[in-house]
Amino acid sequence: MYDRSGNYRSFDIWVYLQCNVTDNWPDHHTVHVSCKFTTYFGHTGPSSCIYGGIEGWNKMASPTSRPEPALSWLDSAIRVKPLQLADSWKKQQVEDALKKIHLTGAQVLRIKEVFHSEVERGIHEQPSSLQMENTYIPELPNGTEEGMFLALDLGGTNFRVILLELSNGALIRENVKRYHIREELRLGCGERLFDFLAECVSDFVRSQNLGGTRLPLGFTFSFPMIQKGLDVGILLTWTKSFNCPSVVGRDAVQMLREAINRRGDTHVEVLAVLNDTTGTLIQGAVLDKKTAIALILGTGSNACYIERADRVQHWEGQRHGEKEVIIDIEWGAFGDNGVLDFIKTDYDRKVDENSLITNSFTFEKYISGKYLGEIVRVIVVKLVEDCVLFGGTVSDALLTTGAFTTSFVSLIEQDTVGNNCENTPEILDKLGLSYNADDIAIMKYICETVSNRAALLVSICTATLLERLDRPDTTIAVDGSLYKYHPRLKSWMNKYIHLLAPEKKFKLLLAEDGSGKGAGLVAAIALRLKQRFSQT
Ligand code: GLC
Repeated sequence: MYDRSGNYRSFDIWVYLQCNVTDNWPDHHTVHVSCKFTTYFGHTGPSSCIYGGIEGWNKMASPTSRPEPALSWLDSAIRVKPLQLADSWKKQQVEDALKKIHLTGAQVLRIKEVFHSEVERGIHEQPSSLQMENTYIPELPNGTEEGMFLALDLGGTNFRVILLELSNGALIRENVKRYHIREELRLGCGERLFDFLAECVSDFVRSQNLGGTRLPLGFTFSFPMIQKGLDVGILLTWTKSFNCPSVVGRDAVQMLREAINRRGDTHVEVLAVLNDTTGTLIQGAVLDKKTAIALILGTGSNACYIERADRVQHWEGQRHGEKEVIIDIEWGAFGDNGVLDFIKTDYDRKVDENSLITNSFTFEKYISGKYLGEIVRVIVVKLVEDCVLFGGTVSDALLTTGAFTTSFVSLIEQDTVGNNCENTPEILDKLGLSYNADDIAIMKYICETVSNRAALLVSICTATLLERLDRPDTTIAVDGSLYKYHPRLKSWMNKYIHLLAPEKKFKLLLAEDGSGKGAGLVAAIALRLKQRFSQT
């Protein structure tokens, strides 16, 4: 076949199938089959290489011996700086322990293909680990948004109630109050959680002297939900630090309305439920009209983007000639069906075992703020057990799940980026560890390796989305503590996205507080749509 420059290239296609058969075939049986396939050029530079992608590859489990194409151009572009240690035994031990965390170029391209395929399957309502949820938000703010709106933001351990006043689409007033949600509410009975939310709304409305005012409300509920409309969100599963089993399978909007009605002391009208990524996209669009993708890189991680409405199969209720609609990907769950098992390490398995909800949110557990620190901790514990770190002595803190937070990773990365050594010793002191210069170098290397894998994974999926959008120039709105505080996530992302979607022009834009401001704007859009549809 011919490549893009018109040069003839020949190549072999090897297709491996893992056969799950119940007769006496071996489990891993290599067969050569002819099948429909797609190919693309991983790179068009001098060391160009063709990477054959097989449609439906993701349905196949990892073969035991799939030959990986050598992608030296990509391998070297994604490699972190080698560990410098005088002690060659230690160096080897650390490198061996981290070998599988370093992704190879071939793995990167395979992840890209798998993600693309999962997006396609999800949007066509075929089995996929990506929910590709229709948000029913068909348009962005248009500068006519007017009036007072309430926004609720539930996702982290603090619940926020926000009053937003808009004039000609611009924010002219914002009052916010934060309420801590105790663990017993986050892990208890659903009605109690929603009663608490309603109590906070009532407290806030009273504090603003708006008891008698009718207030349209946008509810940012940052969990995977099935949306049957702009104001219906059925919780699929809890994530992050929440687990109130009685809410799963129920409509969060309905539960909120009921709790508000039980109190009967406010006049709020819940018009829309949204995800924090959706809010971020909306907020990004206010800052930059080219915004068409939004990412959350915080405690959890997720992405949404503007999809062509005709590609979206799941659409409950009437269509009104919508041209586009925001799709909430819920990429945290990417790989929950096993399609990413080829990069899963024992450390990832351990992190999953220690998590609140196991066997779920595979991708989120590789990349998000709730888990990066924990991945590092699990690796460190293994290296202490092997007598490579801290003279083989652990501390109680180091053995505690969650004790090594992602903020530590960001701080240690700051030392690496700034070529100094201030934060790392302070953190090791805090964790009650005795250390020497080698320990510090190793800690820095682990944090860099784990962070780099996260940056790569996020970039692979973002590049795939960019390629999906038929736009010459796209702004990607990003929010979340990991993105804000990690010293080089952004620069890695810029580099890797460019590498993986070389023909796409893009910009990463910090769009802060989409889950607050975005929710108010979505409530305003919902009001506009409601008025428009009631006239037709
Ligand atoms: C989790 C939630 C998702 C949210 C993300 C970021 O992945 O499931 O809905 O967008 O966290 O907060």
